[in-house]
Amino acid sequence: MKVAFACSECFPFVKTGGLGDVCGSLPKYISDLGCDVKVFLPLYGGIQTLKHNLLLNEDLTDIPLMIGDVEYTFNVWEGKLPNSEVKVYFIDCPFYFHRETPYTNDKDEDERFILFQQAVLITIQYLKWSPDIIHCNDWQTGLIPAYIRTTYAWDKIFENTKSIISIHNIGFQGRFSPESLYNANLPIDKFYPFGPFELNNSFCFLKSGIIYADLITTVSPTYAKEIQTEEFGAGLEGVLQLRANDLYGILNGIDLDVWNPLTDHFIKTNYSVEDIENKEDNKKNLINRIEFVYNKDIPVFGIISRLTGQKGFDLLKPILHHILENNDIQLVVLGSGELQYEELFKSAQYSFPEKVFFWSGYNTELSHLITAGADIFLMPSHYEPCGLNQMYSLNYGTVPIVRDTGGLADTVKDYHEHNESGNGFSFKDYLPDALEKTIQRALYIYKDKKIWNEIMIRGMKEDFSWKHSAEKYLDLYKKIIN
Ligand code: ADP
Ligand code: GLC
Repeated sequence: MKVAFACSECFPFVKTGGLGDVCGSLPKYISDLGCDVKVFLPLYGGIQTLKHNLLLNEDLTDIPLMIGDVEYTFNVWEGKLPNSEVKVYFIDCPFYFHRETPYTNDKDEDERFILFQQAVLITIQYLKWSPDIIHCNDWQTGLIPAYIRTTYAWDKIFENTKSIISIHNIGFQGRFSPESLYNANLPIDKFYPFGPFELNNSFCFLKSGIIYADLITTVSPTYAKEIQTEEFGAGLEGVLQLRANDLYGILNGIDLDVWNPLTDHFIKTNYSVEDIENKEDNKKNLINRIEFVYNKDIPVFGIISRLTGQKGFDLLKPILHHILENNDIQLVVLGSGELQYEELFKSAQYSFPEKVFFWSGYNTELSHLITAGADIFLMPSHYEPCGLNQMYSLNYGTVPIVRDTGGLADTVKDYHEHNESGNGFSFKDYLPDALEKTIQRALYIYKDKKIWNEIMIRGMKEDFSWKHSAEKYLDLYKKIIN
């Protein structure tokens, strides 16, 4: 089976969050199941071609493409996903992709991904490689299902191609002005209220994908249910309800080549469930690195996150100072994003310099050191399509505290003293008080080393490898092909 995988980020080439992790790993596992997989990605200015051994395909240069009335050209570079034979095709158009960040608020953001998506299809035409499936991810690839049924439907190469769109976060929809439809080279007569491209008078890339794709997936079973409700659907719940029979929730996996305490090359001491006591060395190392005083009995909390409303920091804001004042704990925060949350952690660091360490920015090494070195991982998300950090934490024996939503609900089971079950702590109500009580409950249990160890072990034994989920995707591919 031939599978084209289109995405706007892909680890290790470019990553802003979990989408990068997923697109850098799922294609490898689908390939391991016997599929011929090719990944398509923009060649952003930040991607170092030399470092990643990318080569320009001399047969695929200066390919013309119209955006509205303007002609652009693009080249295609090639590379491979590490530890695999999966080829990655990079769409190179410096005018659109050499910007400070992969995503921008520039006024031509629509054009950037209109170019990318058409370039993917044109590259497939040049390669004379007819995919059985085009697997799209999020709004940046949401027009592809529409293109192969409209603008590019004339080409027999797409005649038997089916499409899937995976929703990684319904909060990002790619909504632009209706005029953008002209730039997109899509049928303007199909833009009308409640039509396939229209959402509240905007041209919505994600809605187009949901309408035109043969199947829709999202990244956890609970989120698949949630996005069909007004509370979580962000205006797309009606469309998703219409397509409820074609909507599946498949939990993300984790890439064990990258996130595995036994082989992780960033951490001080490798460990597994067999020698769990070696985790402590990583706590010591983390605490030394941030120049705090190490004490094995002081619980270390970790946060690694985009600092946005999605991640539930509104809950932490009113209670953080109170918690720090009244408890002997240490908190290590890694993240960047909205000013209000950066200030929250800066001010906590200022008020409690021996207790709070905040690193503002993106730092891969530190993210591994925290995952291995913290005792507790805090992720009280408002909503969470899947979430990878809680799965990394569980497998590293770092006990998560989460809100019971989306993928967090599917992976973290609240500790239950009577059944002796649970791999973490969770709460339902989106209230600061609920979070504070859960933190206090975890701190109380932390004192009982035997129980705590059992919670850690249950987390470390969870199997989040991609194998099962990749098989589920393959089943869906087969279902639509037939
Ligand atoms: P989301 O995709 O919503 O941001 P996920 O939990 O799915 O949340 O994935 C986040 C990914 O991004 C994880 O791999 C996490 O380690 C990484 N990450 C987030 N913030 C940072 C940061 N500041 N530095 C390094 N890695 C980060
Ligand atoms: C999004 C979601 C996150 C998910 C990731 C990968 O960024 O916010 O929950 O894990 O995509 O699917």
